[in-house]
Amino acid sequence: MSALLEGKTALVMGVANRWSIATSIARALHEHGARLALTYEGERTKDEVEKLAGELGGGLALHCDVASDESLANLRAVLESEYKQINTLVHSIAFARREELAGKYYATGRDGFRIALDISAFSLVALSRELQPIIKPGGSVMTMTYLGSVRAVQSYNVMGVAKAALEASVRYLAVDLGEQGIRVNGISAGPIKTASARAVSGFTNILAEVALRAPLRRNVSANDVGNVSVFLSSDLSSAITGQVIYVDAGYSIVGI
Ligand SMILES: NC(=O)c1ccc[n+]([C@@H]2O[C@H](COP(=O)([O-])OP(=O)(O)OC[C@H]3O[C@@H](n4cnc5c(N)ncnc54)[C@H](O)[C@@H]3O)[C@@H](O)[C@H]2O)c1
Repeated sequence: MSALLEGKTALVMGVANRWSIATSIARALHEHGARLALTYEGERTKDEVEKLAGELGGGLALHCDVASDESLANLRAVLESEYKQINTLVHSIAFARREELAGKYYATGRDGFRIALDISAFSLVALSRELQPIIKPGGSVMTMTYLGSVRAVQSYNVMGVAKAALEASVRYLAVDLGEQGIRVNGISAGPIKTASARAVSGFTNILAEVALRAPLRRNVSANDVGNVSVFLSSDLSSAITGQVIYVDAGYSIVGI
């Protein structure tokens, strides 16, 4: 593989298991020469993430719950002492209660709305604030989003609203961090079978619809997304910021 990311350090957040999009992103970044640090949400995912970190160059596997400011501050302290600075931050994190990912959007509860927006959108803001002092100029922040931010996708409900907030945050953060030469972008991936995706009611119908109607007549893989994360981490994308890049086999451009 190329050494496109040689000398760069990437923090990848959101590995839960081998199906996670963040796993493919971490693998792709490693294959192109990046040194990695991974984070895990809790004890349930710790072993899997430590194992992956071992396979991918032996970088750090750190605990971070994005719902906790203290956890974010700890993350920064450890990164600063172990790596000094990082070049790439990959935010591949989202959560909504299963009951909010089915039925009517208007049935979303106040608490369910707050949790989905906090974990899936605000966390990017909080992480950007906490980590910006240790992201090198020329660095790249990226987050994962989905078409449900701009279209009403059945059952995606509050997560679509969270993704809209996330994509708006990408633009505001791009302006804020642009002063330091840091770029911020979103990758809007087509549907991929992961634990989070399976929580969306009727997810397999979405996969079937994309395979039928996308210009490329197929679904995307997490590897397709991993490749774009390499591009966004590298200097090849040095003038791209504040954008949402669709990695969806073209599905989003199709009308009738
Ligand atoms: N799978 C898809 O079809 C698809 C499509 C487009 C975008 N996305 C987005 O990609 C991202 C990754 O999702 P995935 O599909 O790989 O599923 P996944 O379940 O493998 O990953 C979600 C991750 O979020 C983490 N997370 C949740 N709450 C957290 C918290 N409080 N603190 C820290 N981490 C927390 C989980 O531990 C997990 O690692 C999400 O933002 C998702 O919305 C997924």
